[in-house]
Amino acid sequence: MKKFTFIIPIIFTVILFYACTHKPFLQSTPKTHDTTTHITPVDTTHTTDTTKDIVDTSVCFQRDILPMLQSNCAISGCHNAASAHKGYVYTSYATIMAKGIVAGNISASATYTYCLSGKMPKSPVPAFDSTKLSLLRRWIINGAHDDTDCIVNCDTTKFTFAAAIVPILSANCYSCHATSSAASVGGNIILDTYAGVLAQAQNGKLLGDLNHTQGYNYMPLGGAQLSECKITQFSKWIAAGAQNN
Ligand code: HEC
Repeated sequence: MKKFTFIIPIIFTVILFYACTHKPFLQSTPKTHDTTTHITPVDTTHTTDTTKDIVDTSVCFQRDILPMLQSNCAISGCHNAASAHKGYVYTSYATIMAKGIVAGNISASATYTYCLSGKMPKSPVPAFDSTKLSLLRRWIINGAHDDTDCIVNCDTTKFTFAAAIVPILSANCYSCHATSSAASVGGNIILDTYAGVLAQAQNGKLLGDLNHTQGYNYMPLGGAQLSECKITQFSKWIAAGAQNN
């Protein structure tokens, strides 16, 4: 009897311990359900992304990569032909391939790894966002070719501010003309706000600069002139009243 009374508390303690250690398990039942419902969509997105990385050919050097590297990196004092800081020059396919890109190998491509870590581009030029990083990564993985036959991603029948003008400015001009970078590298001209763009549209300089009209500055500064189609989108948008549409 004495033995028995001694054993009972032990059994209780064991049961209590067991119950406590298993409490999270019991509580996690609804969680497990949640996870299951989440797994499918998350996995699908991931799979889609990976496939995109390998087979997506929509990234095109002349359309996506060259303007991006020119406007963000080939800046005076950094990586234009004259400055060539640390030997990197981002002005043409030949110079871009000469240092910092290993076709098919992103981890050996310093141009990519520096942008990924946020070390480059240097402030005040904003770091590459996920869209820019993805373009660069996919272009390198796909073989870092000098694609020139890019399907022209431009349609002169579309010329609203949001759909036509902002994407062009974002890809070619924000590196120097974002609110954060304008004071140091963009001559204090802000083009990432509607008001800022409107002012330059109304004083005629936006179109003069884009057309490389004599007597104007040539924009994008240090980069290739925008395609005729893109400049037409600007002139149509301005002719229609330069609205915030
Ligand atoms: C590498 C940096 C850089 C890039 C990229 C750049 N700009 Fe500029 N931009 C400048 C600088 C610097 C000035 C000031 C020039 C001055 O005052 O002499 C300027 C001035 C301007 C001006 C004011 C008018 C003038 O000529 O002074 C406009 C408008 C302009 N840029 C439009 C653009 C557009 C549009 C793009 C993209 C298609 C662009 N810029 C890309 C550096 C840049």
